[in-house]
Amino acid sequence: MQNLPTKEAFSVPTSDLSYSREDWRKGYESQPNEYDYWIDDVEGKIPSQLHGTLFRNGPGLLEVNGMRLHHPFDGDGMICAIAFDQGRAHFRNRFVRTEGFLTEQAAGKILYRGVFGTQKPGGWLANAFDFQLKNIANTNIIYWGGKLLALWEAAEPHGLNPHTLETLGTEYLDGVLAEGDPFAAHPWIDPSCQADDGEPCLVNFAIKPGISSTIIIYEFSPTGKLLRQHSHSVPGFAFIHDFAITKNYCLFFQNPVSFNPIPFALGFRGAGECVKFQPDKPTRIVAIPRFSSEPVKFFETQAGFVFHHANAFERGEEICIDSICYESFPEVESGSDYKQVDFDALAPGQLWRFTLDLPSQTVQRRILEERCCEFPFVPPQHAGRPYQYVFMGAAHAPRGNAPLQAILKLDVNNGERQLWSAAPHGFISEPIFVPRPNSTEADDGWVLTLVYDASDHRSDIVILDGRDLNQSPIARLHLKHHIPYGLHGSWTSEYFEARM
Ligand code: CO
Repeated sequence: MQNLPTKEAFSVPTSDLSYSREDWRKGYESQPNEYDYWIDDVEGKIPSQLHGTLFRNGPGLLEVNGMRLHHPFDGDGMICAIAFDQGRAHFRNRFVRTEGFLTEQAAGKILYRGVFGTQKPGGWLANAFDFQLKNIANTNIIYWGGKLLALWEAAEPHGLNPHTLETLGTEYLDGVLAEGDPFAAHPWIDPSCQADDGEPCLVNFAIKPGISSTIIIYEFSPTGKLLRQHSHSVPGFAFIHDFAITKNYCLFFQNPVSFNPIPFALGFRGAGECVKFQPDKPTRIVAIPRFSSEPVKFFETQAGFVFHHANAFERGEEICIDSICYESFPEVESGSDYKQVDFDALAPGQLWRFTLDLPSQTVQRRILEERCCEFPFVPPQHAGRPYQYVFMGAAHAPRGNAPLQAILKLDVNNGERQLWSAAPHGFISEPIFVPRPNSTEADDGWVLTLVYDASDHRSDIVILDGRDLNQSPIARLHLKHHIPYGLHGSWTSEYFEARM
């Protein structure tokens, strides 16, 4: 294995901070261009066994014709595809041509309100009682059942051509979804489903919030056929972005929040700005059986806010759920500027283990990782099963809240850690672990992450050795341009050749 001395690895910052705010802000510049090219500027060597396609999604435009969005989560989805074959890599990016994207680009102005506070011009009068949201398709992208799907949790997916990233239109999964139906952006692949003779299946959910909320669970075969669908009503408003699975359960955290729709209806605030954290109320954990008709189980634990789960598994009569937990919900303030966020004033996300005792319906929790972290990723063969390693985006410094500049590997069994940091000028994205073909060790594979490098305002694809993150990267692929900070993505072993 080749080691590269890279200037960023474990560099010591000159100030107390591992980053400058000016550098960090530059990663929120829009990328309006669409590219297609072979990546020639490579430090190190792309592993020849790395064969397949990395797909990434995230907001590509942070403005519409110079009119700034209130929050990056309101930005139009832009897909990146990096196809790897025989030690070479090809890059392509395309906007998802949603109906809203096309009409706003043609009009040259903001025509829709965003969930996270973006308003149409003209003040509250122009926004009052306009409940029409733009399906921005910006949160995740998966390849399943022969379809490439850009996901946004509040509406139906968009289908894309996996070779060209051309938008094919809204996708109803062979009639499973109806127009406007929500479909979450966080599916899991159960690597060996016991109800399907050990075949893999895709498990996802949809949530319809209200005074009581409906959770719908969908499971699909590798060919995209619907295997199971069931819906459940849970009391109270639910704001649920992600879930976890085990062999037998789907697990949801109903965070203690309330929703006051009045400022949204009157045009003063976006819907996401009307969510209020309720620190005196517990978090409710909902365990829904995947295959049996036994009743849904409810658990309560201390308040906190969870966006993302790392993994969950069953252990005798217990279920363990490992999740990134915040002390409180980072509320989106209507008058605030996301680029001026005071990192020190916010509580960091930290990895916690929640252990549910099924007979007594009680919960124990303990912290697994105190370092500020987000975007957990567990090797796919261990999804929903006992596991050893989790890879996460993390802060460079071991304490405090800060932008994600490092990739952390944690052994959840013994607490051993490895860290690769892109500080001071690098800002990482979600790490995606790709197992090496025929590997037998859980961490034998590659960690792929897109790194925004503020020193030259470009992004790199960094390939790390999953067995030892403390080493310098195996390869660093320099793109010709930057990609704004993204959200989620996935790997498929299908190689989508670079058809022009
Ligand atoms: Co997410």
